[in-house]
Amino acid sequence: MKEQLENLKHVALAEVALATDAVAIENLRIKYLGRKGEVTAVLKQMGALPPEERPAAGALANELRSELESAFLTRGETVEASAFEERLKTETLDVTIPGNSGNGVGHKHPVSTVWDEAVDIFLAMGFTVAEGPEIELSEYCFDKLNTPPGHPARDRQDTFYLDEDEVVCLRTQTSSVQIRTMEKTKPPIRIISPGRVYRKDEIDATHSPIFLQLEGLVVDKGITMGNLKWTLNELMRGLYGPDVKTRFRPHHFPYTEPSCEVDMQCFACGGKGCRVCKGEGWIELLGAGMVHPKVLAGCGIDPDVYSGFAFGIGIERLTMLRFEINDLRLLYENDFRFLKQF
Ligand code: DAH
Repeated sequence: MKEQLENLKHVALAEVALATDAVAIENLRIKYLGRKGEVTAVLKQMGALPPEERPAAGALANELRSELESAFLTRGETVEASAFEERLKTETLDVTIPGNSGNGVGHKHPVSTVWDEAVDIFLAMGFTVAEGPEIELSEYCFDKLNTPPGHPARDRQDTFYLDEDEVVCLRTQTSSVQIRTMEKTKPPIRIISPGRVYRKDEIDATHSPIFLQLEGLVVDKGITMGNLKWTLNELMRGLYGPDVKTRFRPHHFPYTEPSCEVDMQCFACGGKGCRVCKGEGWIELLGAGMVHPKVLAGCGIDPDVYSGFAFGIGIERLTMLRFEINDLRLLYENDFRFLKQF
């Protein structure tokens, strides 16, 4: 029996040394040490030995078993390590090869670019950003802005109401944030409020039922139209360069007195009149004015002590002029070929 075991050992060790992968090694383990394996078979004959020979034979068999086990293990590790080496050699990854996904790195949407630039310009002038809800009380969107029931701006054709009684609406203008700010802040106030607004407008090249406005409000002692002009010109210079020309035209808004609209000289024709400016030479940009005394008083601010100016700008309009885009819809179609250009 001793001889038998010695033989098995030599053959098994020789075979293991030749095994080149994990599967072959596992097969050898089963062949020798498995339940029906050759070493096991020898051990089963143990019963046939005279009792005095059994302990020595048993010890020998166990020794062989553990020797083979560790040989399988060591060989397994060697085979695995060289397989890994082999993979490292063949599966090289060159991280410097240009990618082929085709999309590359993204960038800001043109509207976000202009939004951020406008906000930065105002922050540099000492404004802070205020926020207000898009689902707004009509009271804040209209009444407190001196726009009582019956005013055309409140018409169901223009405004999305959320209830039959027209108490709650989707805000039609960011001007509601003026009221919210003045109600909870004492002057001096210097805020801007960019955000989404909603109107029942058909979609066309210059209209969308959802668009963006940037509201501004300054309230302090001695604020005049001169402050308003300087501030808005500063914005225009920041966005369109130092040579931009603006024009302030009288207008009417219920919540400002006096009110004005501000135009920018047409970038395409330099004021001569062309298709872009519809022959006007000027392009309308925003509404503004001196905050109506009734609006100030309604928010608990004494109009005999304080005055203020306010303005509201369409952010898409600013974007279109900035990048010379002639159709508002392009900004929201998310056509990659279009967006890539900015
Ligand atoms: N709310 C106006 C609009 O949506 C824009 C506007 C005009 C805002 C005059 C103002 C303002 O704050 O004073 O067309």
